[in-house]
Amino acid sequence: MNRPFKLDPAEYPFTDHWLPYRDGRIHYLDEGQGPTVLLLHGNPTWSYLYRNVIKELRGECRLVAPDYPGFGMSTAPEGYRFTPQEQSEAIQYLIRHLELRDFVLVVQDWGGPIGLNYAVQHRENLRGILVMNTWAWPATILPMKLFSLVMGGWPIGYWLQTRRNFFAKAIVPHGIYQTGKVTDSLRKAYTDPFPTPKSRIPTWVFPGQIRKAREWLAGIESKLSNLADLPAHILWGTKDSAGFPLGQMVKWQRYLPFNETEILEDASHYVQEDRPDRVAASIRELMNRTRGGVLR
Ligand code: BEZ
Repeated sequence: MNRPFKLDPAEYPFTDHWLPYRDGRIHYLDEGQGPTVLLLHGNPTWSYLYRNVIKELRGECRLVAPDYPGFGMSTAPEGYRFTPQEQSEAIQYLIRHLELRDFVLVVQDWGGPIGLNYAVQHRENLRGILVMNTWAWPATILPMKLFSLVMGGWPIGYWLQTRRNFFAKAIVPHGIYQTGKVTDSLRKAYTDPFPTPKSRIPTWVFPGQIRKAREWLAGIESKLSNLADLPAHILWGTKDSAGFPLGQMVKWQRYLPFNETEILEDASHYVQEDRPDRVAASIRELMNRTRGGVLR
């Protein structure tokens, strides 16, 4: 299958995989062999976000990185509404199709709710978890609620997203802390998946769902105690312009008491862009801590 847009082969030197999903298809990377790691992105990113982590680790483990329908190179089935519930179902379909077992789950941004919805129901299939600048509960902090209202509710948010591709064009490149890493090729990789106003609707749905999916998020939070014995790593970028203060990280520390935490003063919301080396190191440490099914 042809790629819908061109990518710098040095930046994204991977083999594409495609899984038919109803009348759409899920694009994913499946690189390396060994213990499995599932890498979940947020809004408006895609598997590209993890490229430097994958390059560093693919000699050591199997890395599966999907694009949600409507993001990256994946296409959505007819009638798809791009809600996090649907995205979580799509990812669970992929997990079942690939028969992923005993894996390390890596989440950031909306990858948190999407992945944790699976994790709280399938603790037995997880070997560990890495969480970065994310949440899995109803929003309680004002900046997040306001962000949801403006970007995912008010007409200005709809206009900015669909007409100006605001998330991909502005929020991501301006959000990355290490400005030297923001190349033309990176800008292009984040904007190219959204060439038309219609194609950008998924990036507008997500912010609105911070409010609209409250009940679903509350359901996930009510089961987070299922993960109390899960080996965890928390990586937290403090230069997060998306409104994820350290209080959210502390909440994760309570829910995941077997955590090791690293605060990154030189990383933003997009930890994978700013410090892919620390993301790779955290995954490696998690795999070492859980070798042979024994928590070390
Ligand atoms: C979003 O819905 O796009 C979003 C949610 C939380 C932080 C940043 C972005």
